[in-house]
Amino acid sequence: MTRLVVIGQGYVGLPMALEAARAGLAVVGLDTQASLVARLNAGRSHIDDVSDAALAAGLAAGYTASTDAACLRAADVILVCVPTPLTADGGPDLGPIESAARAIGAHVAPGTLVILESTTYPGTTEEVFAPLVLGDRLSVGTDVHIAFSPERIDPGNATYGVRNTPKVVGGLTPACTRAARDFYAQFIDTVVEAKGAKEAEMAKLLENTFRHVNIALVNEMMRFSHELDIDLWDAIDCADTKPFGFMAFRPGPGVGGHCIPVDPAYLSHRVKARLGYAFRMVELAAEINTAAPLYVAGRLWEALNEHRLAVNGASVLLVGVTYKPNVSDLRESPAVPLAKRLTQWGARVSYHDAHVPSWRVPTDAGVLELTSVDDVYAAAGGADAVVLLQPHATYDLDRLARASSLLLDTRGRLAPSGSVHRL
Ligand SMILES: NC(=O)c1ccc[n+]([C@@H]2O[C@H](COP(=O)([O-])OP(=O)(O)OC[C@H]3O[C@@H](n4cnc5c(N)ncnc54)[C@H](O)[C@@H]3O)[C@@H](O)[C@H]2O)c1
Repeated sequence: MTRLVVIGQGYVGLPMALEAARAGLAVVGLDTQASLVARLNAGRSHIDDVSDAALAAGLAAGYTASTDAACLRAADVILVCVPTPLTADGGPDLGPIESAARAIGAHVAPGTLVILESTTYPGTTEEVFAPLVLGDRLSVGTDVHIAFSPERIDPGNATYGVRNTPKVVGGLTPACTRAARDFYAQFIDTVVEAKGAKEAEMAKLLENTFRHVNIALVNEMMRFSHELDIDLWDAIDCADTKPFGFMAFRPGPGVGGHCIPVDPAYLSHRVKARLGYAFRMVELAAEINTAAPLYVAGRLWEALNEHRLAVNGASVLLVGVTYKPNVSDLRESPAVPLAKRLTQWGARVSYHDAHVPSWRVPTDAGVLELTSVDDVYAAAGGADAVVLLQPHATYDLDRLARASSLLLDTRGRLAPSGSVHRL
């Protein structure tokens, strides 16, 4: 039986560990957070897509969580699913990858397959990760196999999960690629071999940069379409009828999450650091998408003005404050800069989100500590304005529109009317 250690038990690592346990592998989920490990071993999941029942099934199948890196010694395969955040100056923070690699280097036995899954710039596996894993005592491709395999999980996606999302693998040697392919084939339907680790790393950044740039494209088009009195939402629906050569992206209040706003910056940083020039598409997309929540604030100002109201003193209800629908993840959520700007303008901000019982918004005047209103429809009825940010599946949007005297729909879900304004 394959003994697997998955380092990092977050949004990516936990579902992967449980899918492997379901397939009959002996799995240890290693994490540095003792409280998280205790919680997982007690059968309580912290991830939306992993129910307590699924975790219980994993525990029954032999999955266990641990903080003890000594478990790496007995592993046949090690997956690394640690975060890859940005530093304060916007560069890649490889600290978690480096510390995981050092822990592996201290314990790894010859014959082990080590795979990095964290999203990072091309070259990380070879230049940063492998030297720390191998040290002076081991050689890649003979003693230890090392590969990169991008994590493509899409939290909240009911159709595509770990098993049926094709997995790209690229090793530091052809033998490493084959070892990674054979490993994933045990519990993933389709495994795709990249030419090498750099190509697998680049594939992931291409996927996320593609989304980032296309979201920015429609967010920019939305601005001038509004001024030209063109319904861009309708234009997108029409374009989307073309059966080839077009993929629909729709405007919104900005991008969020751990991936889209962060990963392209890894690539542009790498290009600038190594080659000295800018990856202009990414820089422009970041500029447009970062400004999107502030544009929403401006459009709310305009809508309130039409209703003869000032933002200053208006009560504004934000509906859905996570970074995308049907998840509880608040990372990089555009709701934060929007709430901050509205508060700066003197609005009284409240919110509803069943996934987020309480919410902290840092503003210039200190942290705003908010609690979700209980009844979104009643609160909408009492607010001067409602901003629909994330259309969680639990919302009855028509009822929300009927309850609101002014609703700004940032997702194009409602037909415009006297009270419903669409971005
Ligand atoms: N969340 C997503 O939707 C998603 C999708 C695709 C790819 N990714 C990528 O996957 C990687 C992981 O993201 P995530 O969302 O799962 O992060 P996360 O923050 O949810 O989880 C990471 C976990 O790793 C643990 N950790 C950090 N350093 C550690 C170390 N040195 N040793 C052991 N554990 C450590 C943390 O305690 C945390 O529990 C990132 O590179 C991310 O870009 C994420």
